[in-house]
Amino acid sequence: MVALSGAHSIGQARCSSFRDRIYSNTSNIDPAFALARQATCPRIGGDANLAPLDPQSPGRFGNNFFQALMNRRGLLNSDQVLFNGGSSDSIVRTYANAATVFSTDFMNAMFKMGNLSPLTELKPFSVQSNMRIPQSFFGGTLQWNIKEAFTLGECHVLQVQREKI
Ligand code: HEM
Repeated sequence: MVALSGAHSIGQARCSSFRDRIYSNTSNIDPAFALARQATCPRIGGDANLAPLDPQSPGRFGNNFFQALMNRRGLLNSDQVLFNGGSSDSIVRTYANAATVFSTDFMNAMFKMGNLSPLTELKPFSVQSNMRIPQSFFGGTLQWNIKEAFTLGECHVLQVQREKI
């Protein structure tokens, strides 16, 4: 779960997905980070304005995302809870310090998730997307094609298929 969330090392979120967090007085957010995000995500309006999920390197897949969590700079509340004084803190710390441990765990978790069968009672919605992990990361370029996605509570569950390119 923690490893999979590392997918948020790339990509963006809409203002409407993180507004509560950056304007909350109670969330454990770095104040300077909150202020910077407020510049493009007003209290009212701008719902579709985008901000990177990983503030340090939004276009690079890697472990900077976990370093951001340790600095209380997770954009989504659902990401920051992975490092919030709870039992997953140590995993976040491990990934932040060791990119290779993260890459191995992420790869294994993606394969495991790809082998899951979708639960029949969930309503699928079609998603056409793919994610490429560059040569530099795994020593060989792999591409995950996202075949289907399902919502499960707050989470989206992805059916992925790996492909060597
Ligand atoms: C723990 C459960 C998860 C939750 C609660 C979650 C939540 C979110 C949210 C709220 C966004 C922003 C969407 C928006 O504002 O439009 C997002 C984006 C994204 N998520 Fe997740 N996510 C989860 C798991 C995952 C997993 C397992 C993956 C892939 C392995 C993933 C990959 C992505 C990517 C790549 C984006 C960026 C999309 C883009 O830039 O268009 N997420 N997620």
